[in-house]
Amino acid sequence: MKKEVMLVTGAGQISMAIARRIGFGKKIILGDKKIENANAIAKIMNEAGYDVEPFEMDLSSRESILAIIAEAEKYGEIRYLVNGAGVSPSQAPIEAILKVDLYGTAVLLEEVGKVITKGGCGVTISSQSGWRMPQLTAEQDRQLATTPAEELLSLEILKPENIRDTLHAYQLAKRCNEKRVMAECVKWGERGARLNAIAPGIIVTPLAIDEFNGPRGDFYKNMFAKCPAGRPGTADEVANAAELLMSDRGAFITGSTFLIDGGATASYFYGPLQP
Ligand SMILES: NC(=O)c1ccc[n+]([C@@H]2O[C@H](COP(=O)([O-])OP(=O)(O)OC[C@H]3O[C@@H](n4cnc5c(N)ncnc54)[C@H](O)[C@@H]3O)[C@@H](O)[C@H]2O)c1
Repeated sequence: MKKEVMLVTGAGQISMAIARRIGFGKKIILGDKKIENANAIAKIMNEAGYDVEPFEMDLSSRESILAIIAEAEKYGEIRYLVNGAGVSPSQAPIEAILKVDLYGTAVLLEEVGKVITKGGCGVTISSQSGWRMPQLTAEQDRQLATTPAEELLSLEILKPENIRDTLHAYQLAKRCNEKRVMAECVKWGERGARLNAIAPGIIVTPLAIDEFNGPRGDFYKNMFAKCPAGRPGTADEVANAAELLMSDRGAFITGSTFLIDGGATASYFYGPLQP
């Protein structure tokens, strides 16, 4: 029997948790820049009864995105997209964060939006980090949402002189992800498909561990200690939200971002985490 096709980018903990939750019985194409990461996750999942094919791809390259889409389409029309590829503020310089997290995600949502099958759905992982950044102007939001992907990195707001550090770049990238989801969900809707974002707080994964050991380690440890939940989250808890968004119970949810951060953002504005 032909299987439904699920395209997953980023062979990390969050992607794997979502893929395990909703990917059973589906053909899963798992892309990562580090093929060893994709191989490792594919091995774990294939040995647990899933059907995962690892694929080397770079989210910052349109050519590479088109290549993984073509690979996935060998097995049928793409029905599910999970975008869990990304780099964090302690892992990469400003240019790489903008190219991978901001530009790459924009291209992926655009290209998958051209081929997603009727009834399909996608989820991209943004971040609570973007929620701590002050509001942008209506015009800046519109630019992040609708500027053609190839022109995004030339926007005034994204020029190097206007970006303070890697954290600021990451926050802009994640804000942009959520605005792109709003704009793209309109086009996905024309194909009978849905698209949403999940903005996680601190979730224990290799990426978060790099943050704990990076220059903002104390900031993050304080954040989860003082947030209402009093702890970091797990990738499986992100998968709980993804399961809702990607199931029929989420049929009326599209163009939305689910913040799932143990209340850290709430505490940052109105509780003990206020700066
Ligand atoms: N872990 C957290 O606390 C947290 C919080 C908020 C948001 N996020 C976001 O969640 C997403 C997934 O992160 P995670 O915590 O599962 O991290 P992870 O480190 O477990 O996985 C990320 C994966 O992305 C891959 N990757 C990096 N650059 C790539 C590129 N250019 N092309 C393809 N693959 C690439 C890495 O090799 C890695 O395998 C990221 O977008 C991250 O910003 C994570």
